[in-house]
Amino acid sequence: MQPCSILITGASSGIGRALALVYARPGVSLSLIGRDRERLEDVAAAARAQGASVSLGQLDVRDQDAMAHWIKAADARHPFDLVIANAGITTGLSPGEIAEEPGAVRAIIGINLIGVLNTVEPLIGPMSTRGAGQIAFIGSIAGLRGLPYSPSYCATKAAVHAYSESLRGRLEPSGVKVALIIPGFVKTPLNDGIDAIKPLQITASQAATRIQAGLQRNKAVIAFPSSLYFAACLSRILPIRLVDKVMARFRVKIPQTHERIG
Ligand SMILES: NC(=O)c1ccc[n+]([C@@H]2O[C@H](COP(=O)([O-])OP(=O)(O)OC[C@H]3O[C@@H](n4cnc5c(N)ncnc54)[C@H](OP(=O)(O)O)[C@@H]3O)[C@@H](O)[C@H]2O)c1
Repeated sequence: MQPCSILITGASSGIGRALALVYARPGVSLSLIGRDRERLEDVAAAARAQGASVSLGQLDVRDQDAMAHWIKAADARHPFDLVIANAGITTGLSPGEIAEEPGAVRAIIGINLIGVLNTVEPLIGPMSTRGAGQIAFIGSIAGLRGLPYSPSYCATKAAVHAYSESLRGRLEPSGVKVALIIPGFVKTPLNDGIDAIKPLQITASQAATRIQAGLQRNKAVIAFPSSLYFAACLSRILPIRLVDKVMARFRVKIPQTHERIG
């Protein structure tokens, strides 16, 4: 059965927007969080045109109190059967740069990690009490192995992977399903800023369709494309210095985020 009440963070752009539209249909209630009011309204209009009912939360995922208040109120109206912790940013280094700006590092930890906790924590208790629901985390192939081009991004995604795995073991006995989504390259504004080869890149709609199918089958890990996923897994068991040398050969330019502690 497809979920009827869904919370998606980072729904104003990219993968989050595509997810909102892939789930939008009559009988579905979408609760969409992002910061940009205009882009949120645009997604809401498209989702309503497909028959869904939509509530918008113009929120910064780093704001623990505002997130808890809004999410609990929305859950009381339409108990969530799916939450997708998707909001995220990227930051990184360009050739010649050595260290990330400390303010940018703390900002990405605030959004990509603390923001995820602020999204799911308010729902762990209610979903466990109901003995139902599904929590999905958007990780990244960059969370499988530290990359020299984006230390703090990799660190946040590795933390999300570990957190979701822990939660899965803890919550599934109570009836709450947990999924970790591990995308490769998906064409979105986040990804457009990165100057690198992007093998097997897919569109946000293709990613959303794969995520929906994986969640429907209750897969613990939804990773795509599978060849890139297996290469990243392999890089964990190959000799470390060899993998470092291979990584160093790629020319990758990842702009530093302008986000700072909010
Ligand atoms: N694209 C890829 O290749 C790729 C690959 C692997 C994983 N991912 C992950 O997929 C997720 C979505 O990324 P995307 O590629 O779709 O990027 P995107 O198009 O830039 O969308 C990012 C979304 O996150 C929201 N967001 C960022 N900071 C926020 C904050 N402080 N509070 C609330 N919302 C915030 C943005 O909302 P506002 O603009 O309204 O603030 C936007 O809706 C991220 O977690 C990313 O790490 C992406």
